[in-house]
Amino acid sequence: MVDVFEIIEPVYILAVLLFIYALRQMSNPATARAGILWAGAGMLLAILVTGLDPAISGNSGHLVVNLALMGFGIAIGGGIAFVAAKRVQMTDMPQMVAVYNGMGGGAAGAIAAVSLMMNGGWSTNNLSPLDIAAGLIGSISFAGSVIAFLKLQGWMRAKPITFPGQVPANLAVLGAAIVAGGLFVWNPSFLGSVPISLLAVFFALGLLYGLAMTLPIGGADMPVVISLYNALTGIAVGIDGFALNNYAMIVAGVIVGAAGSLLTILMARAMNRSISNVLFSAFGAHEEEGAVIHGSLKPIDLDDAAAMLAYAGTVIICPGYGMAVAQAQHKVKELTDVLEAKGVQVKFAIHPVAGRMPGHMNVLLAEANVPYDHLLDLDEINPEFASTDVAVVIGANDTVNPAARRVGSPLQGMPILNVDQARNVIVLKRGAGKGFAGVENDLFYKDNSRMLYGDAQETLTRLVQAVKKL
Ligand code: TAP
Repeated sequence: MVDVFEIIEPVYILAVLLFIYALRQMSNPATARAGILWAGAGMLLAILVTGLDPAISGNSGHLVVNLALMGFGIAIGGGIAFVAAKRVQMTDMPQMVAVYNGMGGGAAGAIAAVSLMMNGGWSTNNLSPLDIAAGLIGSISFAGSVIAFLKLQGWMRAKPITFPGQVPANLAVLGAAIVAGGLFVWNPSFLGSVPISLLAVFFALGLLYGLAMTLPIGGADMPVVISLYNALTGIAVGIDGFALNNYAMIVAGVIVGAAGSLLTILMARAMNRSISNVLFSAFGAHEEEGAVIHGSLKPIDLDDAAAMLAYAGTVIICPGYGMAVAQAQHKVKELTDVLEAKGVQVKFAIHPVAGRMPGHMNVLLAEANVPYDHLLDLDEINPEFASTDVAVVIGANDTVNPAARRVGSPLQGMPILNVDQARNVIVLKRGAGKGFAGVENDLFYKDNSRMLYGDAQETLTRLVQAVKKL
């Protein structure tokens, strides 16, 4: 008869292969949806066999109880997640990701806590330093993700919360957490006969550092920070895997840690910021002063904008955060269709950090069935602006702001879409609102720019009708 425990390792390896295959699928929008399903299948397999793992089932008497407990937890957690994911608006996706990251970090921290409570310090468990590392990283990720969620959800002040001496104070909390963890490894009873008291201090300090580290970071920098916490959660899970000798956790943790780290670096690079600038500079707390802009804002009426577009040969649409807020992607697709029906060539310029999360524009435009071959990234599309009749900016600001070429601007050095080089520019936005960086936009004042004011979805609805009539 086959020993049931013998199927655990092969199934873990299969799950790991599925994770890797899924990640590969996710690197292309056309296969990303299938990638999610493959990753889900891998996760399901891993969860199912985990119930049989001797480390979890103990002996056969505990197996049934543990399986029932796992089933109960999965039903509650999975049920809540299923309903929440069905109901979430696309614009609320970053905070949803923050919550799920936080849960991963919290789970990794909880596993480490249980291991430390059961096995004590170094004298009884020579893997306790690993548990301490996983506990600390998991706690930071959990508490930091909670703050990220609250800021993005608008339940706490999104602007950076700062005070003098903040960085040294935060580092002191981190240092104290490391010291408490080290003391626990050395002697779990250091704070008295109840080992849990030292452990409680250690976890409290870890959580406090996660909160403190996230407070000075502005709401709009949160996607970068969430990606960083995602990486930390992966690392904590991977370390837990080493401590538990669980291959699936090690590999899944390493994959998440590596993918999250790369994504964090790519996002920061696309904003021309360093990770330390995102974490420590309280970006967005102060607005730029003293910049002089020449020219004036020149409104255009709807019929003139429609005529300009309908009789153009080439149009480039540049979507940004405002398109996401207005949920205007379906109207953008309608505009594309009516223009193409009139023989206009329409392309989309996708800036890597347009919106508020990686791939934000790609996801929204894919939802509206804009063909992938219409979407061109920054390097591909930038040489085309100079020969384009009309560039239509829809709720984008920083990503099209020529101030990025100005020395001293907070945007200095950020790669931008060269919209200002197009023959004509039509800008759809509601009013004089600035972009996330809080910098006035030179583009809007240029001779070739016209402002079409209003909510992007409403404006596009009327624009489509006006173009159809021509
Ligand atoms: P933003 O610079 O944020 O500008 C968005 C513009 O949309 C605003 O100027 C606003 O002007 C307009 N708007 C808002 N609601 C609107 C509505 N309902 N209808 C029409 N317009 C509306 O956008 P962007 O160009 O996409 O730049 C993204 C920024 O976020 C960059 O600075 C980037 O570095 C930062 N960021 C991005 C990410 C990722 S990964 N994507 C992560 C962190 C930070 P009005 O108020 O006048 O309408």
